[in-house]
Amino acid sequence: MSDLLDLAIVIPTFNEKANVPVLVARLDQALTGINWEAIFVDDDSPDGTAEAAREIARIDRRVRVIQRIGRRGLATACIEGMCATAAPAVAVIDGDLQHDETILPDMLAALRSDAALDIVVGSRFVEGGGTGDWDRDRLSKSALATRLSQRVLDVGLTDPMSGFFMVRTDVVRARAPHLAGIGFKILLDIMTAGGRPLRFRELPYVFRVRTEGESKLDHVVALEYLIALYDRRFGRLVPVRFAMFSAIGVIGVGIHMGVLALLHLVAGASFLIGQIAATGAAMTFNFFLNNALTYRDRRLRGARQLLDGWVSFCVVCSVGAVANVGVAAFLYDFHYGAWAASALAGVLVGAVWNYALSSRFVWG
Ligand code: GDD
Ligand code: MN
Repeated sequence: MSDLLDLAIVIPTFNEKANVPVLVARLDQALTGINWEAIFVDDDSPDGTAEAAREIARIDRRVRVIQRIGRRGLATACIEGMCATAAPAVAVIDGDLQHDETILPDMLAALRSDAALDIVVGSRFVEGGGTGDWDRDRLSKSALATRLSQRVLDVGLTDPMSGFFMVRTDVVRARAPHLAGIGFKILLDIMTAGGRPLRFRELPYVFRVRTEGESKLDHVVALEYLIALYDRRFGRLVPVRFAMFSAIGVIGVGIHMGVLALLHLVAGASFLIGQIAATGAAMTFNFFLNNALTYRDRRLRGARQLLDGWVSFCVVCSVGAVANVGVAAFLYDFHYGAWAASALAGVLVGAVWNYALSSRFVWG
């Protein structure tokens, strides 16, 4: 065995403390005869996952830890981990022991024996693979997501949802600037990043049951998946962030109109007062939804950050709001009675300002 580094294993983690030592031990067992390093990329897990990994790293130099502060995201964690190694091949594996680390040597052997191969993917849907102990609900949702990606994007993989693969490091590094880094589906991201189609091979594995900790796949992650598909398909036309900001803005318009109608038409407040209150309500709503979705990766957290963010969002958007109220009031006076059209025009002018300024000053 030479001294050269053969392989890096990137392990994205969030609250996986109990799984860390077990995984390292299993890697050690599975990878005899291979010079490997493990790179944990942890998003500052509250349970102390990063420290658990560092504890091992102090006595085992093959283990490294990247602890990201104020960041969240499985895909971006994988990207940063994959770019952080000097090894010629890099694998991504879940930190919760659900992926079968014993096929890693076969993955490496495949890459080594076939120079034309770019990536080897662990698949649950080729002969010998399986989804293990999944309930019907998760199975059907996973099947739906798989079909959707096969329709929207043309990747040809049997298991495009897989988060378990090994790729040539230079291939993924060359693609890194073109990765979207949205949500969970890093493999799909790599396969569809543009450039020449990657040559892949699939190896079967059986998805294991998680025994420690819990899954982070929730509704927001599911939404992020749809966003990622949108981004790959239409992202060049209308950038995904702007599309989301606008979509949330449209809901905000509904709230704006509702509050305005309530105050102006029902409660009898003046149009100007109604318009100001409606702007405030819509602004607050937009701030929280954009913080949770549009800027999830740079999300402001905790009472203090949220208050600061909300205040600066309001300050930044006050230019937009003044323009909004001004334009609307002007049009309303001009065409007496056309309150909805006046308000809508005001909102539109305000929205462009809001996006331009807030993306820079609130979440910048
Ligand atoms: N750094 C970081 N940041 N890691 C994360 C984050 C995050 O925001 N969210 C999740 N992880 C880590 C988890 O700690 C775990 O090691 C791994 O990513 C997978 O997350 P799970 O929450 O266990 O997801 P899952 O089991 O539902 O989904 C997995 O299986 C899918 C197959 O259906 C993922 O591997 C998917 O990529 C895979 O496609
Ligand atoms: Mn899991």
